[in-house]
Amino acid sequence: MKPLARPNVLQMEPYQPGKPIEAVQRELGLTEVIKLASNENPLGASPRALKAIQAALSNVHLYPDGDAYTLRAALADFHQLPPDHFLFGNGSDEIIHYLGLAFLNPGDELIMGDPSFTRYEAAAYLNNAVLRKIPLTPDFRHDVPAMRDAVNERTKLIFIANPNNPTGTLTYRQEVEKLLQDLPESVLLILDEAYFEYVDHPDYPNGIDYVQQGLNVVAMRTFSKAYGLAGLRAGYAVARPELIDPMNRLREPFNLNALAQAACVAALQDQSHVQQTRKLNQASLRTFYQCCERLGLRYVPSYANFLLIDTARHARAVFDALLREGVITRSGEPLGLPQYIRVNTGTPDQNQRFVEAFEKVMARDVVSSV
Ligand SMILES: Cc1ncc(COP(=O)(O)O)c(C=O)c1O
Repeated sequence: MKPLARPNVLQMEPYQPGKPIEAVQRELGLTEVIKLASNENPLGASPRALKAIQAALSNVHLYPDGDAYTLRAALADFHQLPPDHFLFGNGSDEIIHYLGLAFLNPGDELIMGDPSFTRYEAAAYLNNAVLRKIPLTPDFRHDVPAMRDAVNERTKLIFIANPNNPTGTLTYRQEVEKLLQDLPESVLLILDEAYFEYVDHPDYPNGIDYVQQGLNVVAMRTFSKAYGLAGLRAGYAVARPELIDPMNRLREPFNLNALAQAACVAALQDQSHVQQTRKLNQASLRTFYQCCERLGLRYVPSYANFLLIDTARHARAVFDALLREGVITRSGEPLGLPQYIRVNTGTPDQNQRFVEAFEKVMARDVVSSV
């Protein structure tokens, strides 16, 4: 029988999220489990955001403000742009979905790095677009000249995650600006800056600057990472109103819930929490680097809140062995990195747990070298 669903939808793989703590506890009978798999903020949300959520609870019987007026105004002030330059999503995941729906005709091409964030692929498949995956450079950075060479008259969207996930690497200002100079007007460059707040590098470009210059750029930001609000699902796009408008037309009317709106306004006002998060992350990355160096393992220096480690073993076996130690990481296998694991930074205690578990696992024969 012919399947009822659209063939291109059946071509899509469901998203594989990091394994939840409760699932590992249940399956392995463990009580002490930590999750360092989804690049969340180990400090949690700002106390001011939690207070704002409490206050907003009394109105959850009402629909949220579909325009997110207060949050929009707060971000307009924060980024020094008019309010019509913003579009909110149920996480930046939803913005990616809207970008595909609004801009991709069947047969249009979407260019992305490989490996990079897998939701860009879903946007291509869903809209019957052609996916052009451009391998990263040997040092795991976006190969911007190769991405530019892949542009043709059918190209519509180019996604650059900056820093990239799962590598934590940067695309530098000069590279982005050269690309922007070369792109035809029919192409939209999406700079996915989910980890923006973590980056400390003089050549890191701020995508919003290009929006201010009126270029064909959509910058994406999220409250899930440094702002510690992943569970509430809040992300946003910043772009010229002509680019925001088509996405706003197809947007679900109340896609940003009321608790998220209240929390994001408060979180934005607590930049000291972001600062503290950034400081902890830098110390944590140093701890992870030292661990890899002690073990003689290569890693990809990171500008985000996670680290890609070459275990020189089958990553799946390392991942499984770490699970049995109560530490959830990500195996690079589904991303075409069969020797790598990705681990995000935690609290000092969590980092220590990871380091101890990793050293134990790597010392064992269970995970033989490849
Ligand atoms: C590069 C990148 N973009 C977007 C997202 C989606 O974030 P959210 O939907 O929580 O805003 C993630 C999450 O891991 C990511 O790594």
